[in-house]
Amino acid sequence: MQEKVDAILEEIKRSTASSSQELEEYRLKFISKKSIIGELFNEMKSIPNDQKKAFGMKLNELKQSAQARFKELIDSVNNHQADTPADHVDLTLPPAGNEPGSIHPLSYMRYKIIEIFERIGFNVADGPEIEDDWHNFTALNFPENHPAREMQDTFFIERDPDILLRTHTSNVQIRLMENQKPPVRSIMPGRVFRNEAISARAHCVFHQVEGLYVDKNVSFIDLKHTLYHFAKEMFGKDTKVRYRPSYFPFTEPSAEIDISCQICGGKGCQLCKYTGWVEIAGSGMVDPNVLANCGIDPQEYTGFAFGMGIERITQLKFRVNDLRLYTENDVRFLKQFRTLH
Ligand code: DAH
Repeated sequence: MQEKVDAILEEIKRSTASSSQELEEYRLKFISKKSIIGELFNEMKSIPNDQKKAFGMKLNELKQSAQARFKELIDSVNNHQADTPADHVDLTLPPAGNEPGSIHPLSYMRYKIIEIFERIGFNVADGPEIEDDWHNFTALNFPENHPAREMQDTFFIERDPDILLRTHTSNVQIRLMENQKPPVRSIMPGRVFRNEAISARAHCVFHQVEGLYVDKNVSFIDLKHTLYHFAKEMFGKDTKVRYRPSYFPFTEPSAEIDISCQICGGKGCQLCKYTGWVEIAGSGMVDPNVLANCGIDPQEYTGFAFGMGIERITQLKFRVNDLRLYTENDVRFLKQFRTLH
């Protein structure tokens, strides 16, 4: 019996603990009622009376040693944990706070533009940003040597055959008409790319929304009133709209759409270059060649198309005068749009 007690004592001395789990293991083994020491106390019954006293004293000594060691182990585990970084946290500091994000102004304007056109029967279509020459240029009636195909405007990924980053969302018009019989009535928001030096007024990545309506008997008056409606919904009913004759390879006739300057109300300022008008979109009647390129009979169908820059609309709406702000992710800029939803 004596040997058994000595062996347990030895084991207690050698015990270590570096976590609360190991402490608990120690407690179960040496301290709890069912521990090996607890078991020895149960054996008291079978000890002859004359040895009971001596054995009892031994057991009490053993029990005390076990408890003393347990205390030491508890202290060592606590000290050990105090060295971990979690214990250096200053609990008196105010909490770091959980700042909510906000919608990006360009996303907000994209939603608004979509909302206005969806209410008058347009659906939303999507197309690829990496495009071939056919969908970005040729099918859109760009002449062979048109300057817009040249290196200074277009990011080419491969040459002959050309694969490029689309320079406008007009590529989606072609993809829609190739795959869908009229009526087609869609708007197509997306990113576009041009090889421009980044400045306050130009960027190599920006966003457009394309619009297309092809059906029987679509006329210029439909185009005029659709964009007239858009301008009033977006900028308010007092906004004036004018159509200026223009040229695009894929529309005939073509028109640029101006609205009365949102900054000066038409009186003349730096933004409108003292004309009182600012351009918001290009538009026109889909050129018969473009319809034919997509397998649509130009004798039977007509259509109108338009394209506008989302950055431009956002600039007019929120007076953002430097295009670089949209992509710099400066929270001081982004925070200003917190109340939008
Ligand atoms: N694709 C033209 C651009 O990027 C914008 C445009 C003009 C789109 C007239 C059209 C349109 O659909 O009819 O400058």
